[in-house]
Amino acid sequence: MSFLHLSLFFFIFIFNRFTIINSSTPFVAPIETDESTKLYTISIFTKTPLQSTDLILDLGGKFTWIDCATGFYTSTTHHYIRCGTDLCDSIGSIACSNCFRPSGPGCHNDSCALFPENPVIRNSVLAQAVVDSAALTTTDGGSPGQLGVVPDFVMSCSDESLIQGLPEGVYGLAGLGRSKTSLPAQVSSVYDSPNIFALCLPNPSSTSPGSAFFNSAGPYYFSPGNDLSSHLFYTPLILNPVGFTMITYATHPSDEYFIGVTSIAVNGKTVEFNHNLLKINNDGFGGTRLSTVTPYTVLESSIYRAFTKAFVNESAGMNLTVTDPVDVFDVCYAESDVLSTRLGPAVPTIDLVMHSDDVFWRIFGANSMVKVAAEGGDRWCLGFVNGGDDPRTSVVIGGHQMEDNLLQFDLVSERLGFSSSVLVHNTNCASFNFSEDPTLR
Ligand SMILES: *[C@@H]1O[C@H](CO)[C@@H](O)[C@H](O)[C@H]1NC(C)=O
Ligand SMILES: *[C@@H]1O[C@H](CO)[C@@H](O)[C@H](O)[C@H]1NC(C)=O
Ligand SMILES: *[C@@H]1O[C@H](CO)[C@@H](O)[C@H](O)[C@H]1NC(C)=O
Ligand SMILES: *[C@@H]1O[C@H](CO)[C@@H](O)[C@H](O)[C@H]1NC(C)=O
Repeated sequence: MSFLHLSLFFFIFIFNRFTIINSSTPFVAPIETDESTKLYTISIFTKTPLQSTDLILDLGGKFTWIDCATGFYTSTTHHYIRCGTDLCDSIGSIACSNCFRPSGPGCHNDSCALFPENPVIRNSVLAQAVVDSAALTTTDGGSPGQLGVVPDFVMSCSDESLIQGLPEGVYGLAGLGRSKTSLPAQVSSVYDSPNIFALCLPNPSSTSPGSAFFNSAGPYYFSPGNDLSSHLFYTPLILNPVGFTMITYATHPSDEYFIGVTSIAVNGKTVEFNHNLLKINNDGFGGTRLSTVTPYTVLESSIYRAFTKAFVNESAGMNLTVTDPVDVFDVCYAESDVLSTRLGPAVPTIDLVMHSDDVFWRIFGANSMVKVAAEGGDRWCLGFVNGGDDPRTSVVIGGHQMEDNLLQFDLVSERLGFSSSVLVHNTNCASFNFSEDPTLR
């Protein structure tokens, strides 16, 4: 432990210029969409000297992991966690490992080990935990400021097998889940700030990044001077008592974010299906979860059938006739038949109704429809997919439905703040001003 403290001391000394000693420092980080994988990447700084690091954004991830392959990971501040220490226990390690390669990041004897997971290929490996520096850009909510260091950031190493399925140039994952080891939880505990973070995922056609805010209940200013924290509705975050990681941690609830959707409406009309599917049962099945590693919302098959039927019927009332299915989508229209509006294609609205009838997440065309190239002309297709008969979660809200929406995860009040489409407020998620004030550097 004394070694840890000593290196921490030197570390803070070296990075004094960047260290903000302020108990309520908000941070911001850019988010980009990867077109080919439909995944989102977040850029943070890691290691010493600090390096900008792109990581897959995983809202349900327990902790952050990074490929430590020898030669790739260079840092003067990394160290390992010895088995049996308090720190090893507190990060929920259930394994201790030795290493027979040359010693280096992720390769020590008697090292506390973790099981990082890649949710895209659904794979996991045994790898050693690593403690190193990380840093994020401070913000006043309107523009970026200096870097603030998170001196003893706990991550897991991984090996090359785990980066399969990730975009080019991305060698790890940022876990934003409901655990003590997630990125937002560690940043808030170092800065002694309330663990409240927000995401504004950019739509893939935008040329500027979206943003993630940490340690901040707002303001979140988007051009032109629009504080999106003033446009939020709130619904409780629900704990699923059963986790669904590949390596199961007995008695640990899920690190994923569930919300209490109670019904779904199309053009304001409630869709009929078995609403018990929206409750989480004792085995952790059912309910509604948010996922940044699921491109399009996935519905249990009976919900999917009732929902698409209601959507087709309502769109017929708007003179829209379905064409052949394209790709993974069953409900498509000729692009030329659909009017466009500033909220996207003019199609029936979809409401996810929460704990009370007057609290609903309204989904307009920009978030419900996906443009797909097809023979005979482009189509607008309903961007929801059939999740089959007995999925673990009945409704998985995917990335396309969250883009250009501000989502605030408030772990203090255990609630989700959601804005619905920010296009309504004449802005979008790519409108945070990331240009730096030159006087700060
Ligand atoms: C771990 O211990 C074994 C056995 O003593 C040794 O061969 C190996 O080199 C050690 N590994 C490291 C990374 O020091
Ligand atoms: C079909 O749509 C019409 C309006 O176009 C509506 O009056 C009717 O209730 C809908 N039927 C169903 C089963 O949703
Ligand atoms: C649908 O088309 C019919 C016939 O062209 C027209 O009379 C009607 O006003 C249209 N309805 C809508 C909602 O556009
Ligand atoms: C963005 O922020 C920078 C630095 O604070 C400022 O100089 C610039 O005018 C801002 N740009 C816009 C469009 O607000």
